[in-house]
Amino acid sequence: MKVHTYERAFLTLGGLLLVACLGALLYASLAMGIHLPGRVGQIDPEALASTPPFDAPGVRQTGPGAYEVVMIGKAWVFEPAEVRVPAGTAITFTATSSDVLHGLHVDGTRLNMMLVPGQVSQNTYRFEEPGRYLILCHEYCGAGHHTMYGTVIVE
Ligand code: CUA
Repeated sequence: MKVHTYERAFLTLGGLLLVACLGALLYASLAMGIHLPGRVGQIDPEALASTPPFDAPGVRQTGPGAYEVVMIGKAWVFEPAEVRVPAGTAITFTATSSDVLHGLHVDGTRLNMMLVPGQVSQNTYRFEEPGRYLILCHEYCGAGHHTMYGTVIVE
């Protein structure tokens, strides 16, 4: 009899947790707009030099208070290695890899994406605080992986 009671209690608890987690997930994606970095397109990794926007990596203004950072990851650098963006604006990172799998994580932020050869990744972030932010490659990409980093300067 007691065993049944405990079983029922645990099943109920499990069910409630499931509903709570699903609710949190839906709330995060629908109400807060949090989602995985999008895969926005495909690209020939050997033709980056002649394929916009990767033929001209760097920062460009895309609208009032909106900027785009176009970045290429390659063994073992980010190109460009340093970007300057204004604080408090929407910065969209559009990035890909020209060779192997790399990662792009801006330290201290939720900006985190995979750079996959042949695939264009995109993620938008707003830097509220001016400063220097380290860009790290977080995917093992060969002998120089630990030397692969860049800088975002927020002014
Ligand atoms: Cu690029 Cu690790």
